[in-house]
Amino acid sequence: MGGIMYQNILIESLDYFGRGIAHIDNKIVFVYNALPNELVNIKIINNKKRFSEAIVTKYLKTSPKRIDSICPYFNKCGGCQLLNLNYEDTLNFKLNKVKELLTKNKINVNNLEIINNENNYYYRNKLSLKIINEEIGFYENKTHNLISISKCFIANNNINTVIDNYKLLNIKNGDLIIRCNSNNEILLIINSQDKLNIDINNLKEKIKLIGIVYNNETIYGNNFYYERIYHKLFKISYDAFFQVNSYITTKIFQELENNLKDSKNVLDLYCGVGTLSIIASNYANVIGVEIIPNAVLDATYNAKLNNSSAKFVLGDVAKTVSKLEIDFDTLILDPPRSGIDKNTINFILSKLPSKIIYISCDVATLIRDIKLLEFKYELISYKIFDMFSYTYHLESFVVLNLR
Ligand SMILES: C[S@@+](CC[C@H](N)C(=O)[O-])C[C@H]1O[C@@H](n2cnc3c(N)ncnc32)[C@H](O)[C@@H]1O
Repeated sequence: MGGIMYQNILIESLDYFGRGIAHIDNKIVFVYNALPNELVNIKIINNKKRFSEAIVTKYLKTSPKRIDSICPYFNKCGGCQLLNLNYEDTLNFKLNKVKELLTKNKINVNNLEIINNENNYYYRNKLSLKIINEEIGFYENKTHNLISISKCFIANNNINTVIDNYKLLNIKNGDLIIRCNSNNEILLIINSQDKLNIDINNLKEKIKLIGIVYNNETIYGNNFYYERIYHKLFKISYDAFFQVNSYITTKIFQELENNLKDSKNVLDLYCGVGTLSIIASNYANVIGVEIIPNAVLDATYNAKLNNSSAKFVLGDVAKTVSKLEIDFDTLILDPPRSGIDKNTINFILSKLPSKIIYISCDVATLIRDIKLLEFKYELISYKIFDMFSYTYHLESFVVLNLR
C-alpha cells in the first residue's frame, strides 16, 4: 500500500494528534492536514500492519472550518498540528478529545471547561532549535531532516529576533534553546562541538541578552533569568523548568489559589522552581519536592525573595516521598508527561490527603493515574488550559476529593 494513491477519500474525524481519520478496506488511515468531512485524494507514506499514514495530494472538497495556515512551515515542521483550523475549533477539538477519553474510561465529571489563550500566536517563551550546516530550524515530523525556518509563529517576537540574527552565533552544528521573560530579556543555551566564536557585541545590539550558557558553562552574563508573574518574582536557572506560556500560567496560578482556601498543609510534588508552592504558602505550610538541583536551589531562593515559608527537598519523587515524615491535607501533583509512578500512587493511597490537585501536560497518563486513584478519589472538576495553542497538546487542571 506504500506510495499507493487513493481518490475520493472521505475524512471521518480527527484523531488524538490532529490527523484526519479515514478507512480504506477496513484499515484505518491517518491523513495529515485533513479535516472532518473533507473529500481528498491521498498518497500512502507509511504502511503498517494495523494502520497507514497518508498525505493529501488534492483537496476535492474542503471543510468550512479550514483556514489558511499563518505559517509557511505548517505540515512540514513537526511543531504545530492545528494551524489549519480556526482557533475556536482547535478549542473544540481539545474539549472533545478530553470528553471522549473520559467517557471511554467511564470517568464522570460535571465541571469540564476549557480556558482559552488570549494571545494564541507568538505565545511561547522558550524554543528549542537545531542548527545543522549553518541552517536553523526544527526537525521534520518523525525524521531528522531539518526544516529551516526564518520565524516561528507560536514563539514570542524576542525569540524571533534571535532567529533573525542566529548567524551572529557562528555555529555550524548544534542545539540552541532560547528562553525569554516578559521583560524581553533573553537567555541562550547552546550545545555544540564547534569552537566558540559568538559575536556577543553585535548580538547585544539586537536583543536584551542576559546570558549565554555554552555546553553547560556560563560564557556571558548569567545562567538564569528572572520572571515577574502573578505579583511574584521567580529566579529560573537555565536547566530548570518553567511553563512555556506565561499568560496561561497566570490563569493556572489563579485556579490553584481558588482551590487552596481550606488547605493547611500542602505537599507539592515535581515543584520546579517553587512557583506553585510559593503561591500555596499564602494559605498553608508547604513542602515541595524536585529532582533538578538548580531548580531546588532556585525554589529555596524564590521562597526568600517572595517572603514565603515554603520548604524544598531535592530528590526523585518515587524514592523520596516515602521518607518524608509529614502529614498533608492537600497534594499538588505536576509531573512530567510520564505521570505518576507506582510507588507514588501507593504513597498517596497510604496517606489519603483530602484533596489532590493534579496538573498535567499529558491527558493519557493523567487519565491512567485518575483510574488508579478512582476507588478512593472522586473527580470534582476538570479544566483544560490552552497552554500549547495550535498544537494537539493541552494542559489539564483537575481536582480530586477523597470519597
Ligand atoms: C511539569 S514540570 C512542573 C514544575 C512546576 N510545578 C511548575 O509549575 O513550574 C515537572 C517538574 O518535575 C521535575 N521532575 C521530573 N521528574 C521528577 C522526579 N522523578 N522527581 C522529582 N521531580 C521530577 C522536573 O524537573 C520539572 O521541574
